This record gives sequence, structure tokens and C-alpha cells, in this order.
Amino acid sequence: MNEVTAINRTQPEYSDAVKKALARAPQLYINGEWVDSTGDATIDVEDPSTGKVVSKVVEASDKDVDRAVAAARTAFDDRRWRDMPPVAREKIMHKIADLILANAEELAELEAIDVGKPKGMASAVDVPGAAAHFTYMAGWAGKIGGETQAPYSMPGGMMFAYTLKEPVGVCAQIVPWNFPLLMACLKIAPALAAGCTTVLKPAEQTSLTALRLADLIHEAGVPAGVVNIITGYGHTGGDRMVKHPDVDKVAFTGSTEIGKLINRNATETLKHVTLELGGKSPVVVMPDVDVAETAPGVAGAIFFNSGQVCVAGSRLYAHKSVFDKVVEGMAETKDFWAPRPSLDPDAHMGPVVSSEQFDRVMGYIDAGKRDGASVLMGGDSPGGDGYYVNPTILTDVNPQMSVVREEIFGPVVVAQRFDDLDEVVKDANNTQYGLAAGVWTKDVSAAHKIASRLQAGSVWVNCHAMIDPALPFGGYKESGVGHEQGRLGLEAYLETKSVLMKL
Ligand code: NAI
Ligand code: MG
Repeated sequence: MNEVTAINRTQPEYSDAVKKALARAPQLYINGEWVDSTGDATIDVEDPSTGKVVSKVVEASDKDVDRAVAAARTAFDDRRWRDMPPVAREKIMHKIADLILANAEELAELEAIDVGKPKGMASAVDVPGAAAHFTYMAGWAGKIGGETQAPYSMPGGMMFAYTLKEPVGVCAQIVPWNFPLLMACLKIAPALAAGCTTVLKPAEQTSLTALRLADLIHEAGVPAGVVNIITGYGHTGGDRMVKHPDVDKVAFTGSTEIGKLINRNATETLKHVTLELGGKSPVVVMPDVDVAETAPGVAGAIFFNSGQVCVAGSRLYAHKSVFDKVVEGMAETKDFWAPRPSLDPDAHMGPVVSSEQFDRVMGYIDAGKRDGASVLMGGDSPGGDGYYVNPTILTDVNPQMSVVREEIFGPVVVAQRFDDLDEVVKDANNTQYGLAAGVWTKDVSAAHKIASRLQAGSVWVNCHAMIDPALPFGGYKESGVGHEQGRLGLEAYLETKSVLMKL
């Protein structure tokens, strides 16, 4: 790991635009206005590349949550958004996308400072992706409709019957810290297209881009109260949102543990719920692959965003005939993925998001070593003030080990060999999770066979984490409930009403 220690891990200076954003007074965006909290609690914002506190955000009080929900309720009930001509709603949503792209530099830098992800990556992935969710869903705003349907048990001509598609109501949207802006947009866009109103809470670790997004949503002309953005902790503010009697739908992305809790809490008032949860996604490498292409691909599947990706390819299954070559090829990407400060132009991987996450990831690596896993690469931290973890490959693992069973959410892959297709499908499916999976092969028949047999909401062939606004995204098993994105993602924000009229 000599070359890793040679890296200068000094975070470059922040831009003036970002310094201004960091210096803002901690406030909440409620009912179309920036308002002070009714309490005085704040949460420190840390730059994980340095471990330094760079700003503060509000820790929403119960009253703040109630105020935000009340604003969303009123805005929904007086129909100020849902009754606007769809063409006008569509234009506003396009305007949000345009403003996101016009502020791309600042948003990418803020995200880099808040999450620790390389700014170049935020510019290439997070910011354009965020805008794309708005433009994609904007197109649906004017294309929502029910259908006429002849009743089955009644004579023809007796009834006129049709269905109406209506917005579900007030939404509580709770997002995690790994893709804060992208997730906020992925949640808000379908709600707006459907005609809903919302209260969105970013994760307590990463609130900055959601707050800037509130500025842009305001500037685009979204009416007051339609989108409210509040900051705060999950077990307090988030919990109150989920249990609030005036909320009709909860949309959550985060850990499976909290997803289950939210599902229970939302059941009390029978809210609509969509949950996008954790994963331990298998990546299957077949014997026929071109190793030179596949090894960097499967390395990227785990090291992208420091492995803090719900669909991270964290369990590698390579056929025994190519296993050694594949893991050697992955190890050759060590310098490319060596962790650097998020604003370093050479960074491809940054630190992990927080000291808590650092301890969690290092704890898993240590547990893996104790359980007898071999460290083929990494397995340690390069040190420094930030929360840097070296990209890590563990071999000699077995299905009983916690590193194989549990979501680590860090740059750690467990690599295993397999003999035949039936065996690898069984092993790949031997998990509580079912979010995503990957297959690398030139054998078209094997690709389709494995894709159909893997229990996962998304399967990628010869690529990984290709997520697109038009394609439904959801989890099998304990990885989620319902779908986001695509037509199904819009449907999750719609109610269906049947109307029957006697002629
Ligand atoms: P978390 O699930 O606790 O937090 C995600 C969001 O839920 C945050 O906005 C948080 O404020 C909110 N939240 C927490 N408790 C809540 C509650 N009782 N009611 C309502 N909202 C609540 O995830 P955390 O603690 O940040 O990370 C722990 C682990 O979860 C990670 O190591 C990773 O394994 C997993 N995770 C998975 C993500 C995914 O995209 N699937 C994203 C983030 C974390
Ligand atoms: Mg938590």
C-alpha cells in the first residue's frame, strides 16, 4: 500500500459560492418561505474529507414538523397544485431541472463536501441524474388518466363507468446520505407529476443540497406549501412525519432496519408506503468473460461512491477458471480507487460519510479477518483526518461470515469461486436481500437464464448500477416494498377511483 500513503490528503479550498451556502443561517423551507425553527437545536455539518464542522442545519422540532405537514396539507386540500393545468406543472418541473443544471458546479461541490464523494463524480452522476428525474416525470404530468370500463355483471348500456387517477395526497419523503440530491429529486419529481404535496427530510448527515434544491424549487415557481424541506434526525423529526395523521403516503430510502420500523409505524394510520432498502448484491462472473474488461467493471461495481450504494456489487462470484485473474485484475485498480479528498480533481473515491460509518466499515473488515477471511487488497485505512477506507477485497470467505451476509456499505467486496450455474444461483440468492444483481458473460443464453433466476429487482448484464428514470427500481425480499421510477414509480403517487353512473 506504499503508493496510497504517498497521496496528499489536503482538501482543496472551497469556492466562494459554496462558502456562501455554508454560511447561511440554519433555516427550514416551509410554506414557500425560509423560516427559523421553533426550537434552537442544530446539527453540525461535517466535511468527511477533513472531519471538520463546516456548517449547521436545523434539528427540526415537533412543532416544525407539524407546521411543514400543515402547509403541505393546506396546499393539497385547496388544490393549488393538482388543479393547475398539467402543461403549467410540466413547465415548472422542467424549470427545476434547468435550474439544477444551471447550478451544477455549486451543487456538485456541496455534495462533495457533504457526502465526501468526488466532485467529478457528483458532476457526472448525481447532478445530471437529479435533473433527469424532473424532466422524465415532467413528461408524465400531462399523461395521467384513467379508463372507461364496461361493467362485467351489468347489461350493456345500463351504466357509464370509468376510473379516475388522483394524487394520493400529502407525502412524507425521507432520504439517506449516499446520494442526497439525487434521492431528493427522485422522490419529489413523481409526487409533483402526480399532483401531490410533500414534506421531504434529508439525512441528518447530508442536508446541504436538499436545502439548495428548495431555493431552486422556489425560483421555478412551485406554489407555496407544495414542497417543504425540513432538516433533522430520523428518530425525532422523521418519526413524527411517518406517524403524522395528516400524511397520506410515506416514501423512504435507507436501511432495512429503519424501513421495517417505518412500515410498522405507518401501518397505524394505514398510509401508503414505498420502501427502498438495503442490499447485498451478487455479481456473477462466468468463465467466458474478457477479464481485461470485466475486472475493472466489477471493481467499479463495489468501489463507486466508496461502496455506499444500495446496489453495490458487494458479493463477487467468479467462476473458478477465471477467479484468480479477475481478483488480480481488480487489485490492479487499487491506485485508481485510492481514497482522496472529495475536491481533489484526481479523486475517484472519497472517504466514507462519517466517523460512525468509518467505524462500522472497519468493524466489518476486522470481523472478516477474525473469521478467517484473507485480505487480498486494502483491509485498512490510510489514516488522516478524514474517514478514509482503502478499497478492500476479501477472499477465503464463507456464507456464515458477517462480511458475506450483512450490508457493509463501504468499499469492501467478498470474492468467492463457483463451479456451476445452479450452484452460483443458489449461493447468490442465499440472502435476506434482493435489490440488485450483476452477470458478466458473453454467453447470451447464460445471461438470460441467470437474470431470470436471480431474486433481485434489477439485474445488470456486463455493467452495474445502470439506474435510469424510465426503469422501475425496487427490491425483492427485505430490500423493499413497491417501486420508484418509470410508470410504476408514478403510480405509487396515485389513487384509483371507480365512478359508475346509471344511464
Ligand atoms: P437510516 O436508515 O437510519 O437513515 C436513513 C434516513 O432515515 C435518514 O434520513 C434518517 O434520518 C431517517 N430515519 C432514521 N430513523 C428514522 C425513524 N425512526 N423514522 C423515520 N426516519 C428515520 O440509515 P443510517 O443509520 O444512516 O445508516 C445505517 C446503515 O443503513 C448503513 O450502513 C447502510 O447499511 C444502510 N443504508 C442503506 C441505504 C440505502 O440506500 N439502501 C442508505 C443509507 C443507509
Ligand atoms: Mg440510523
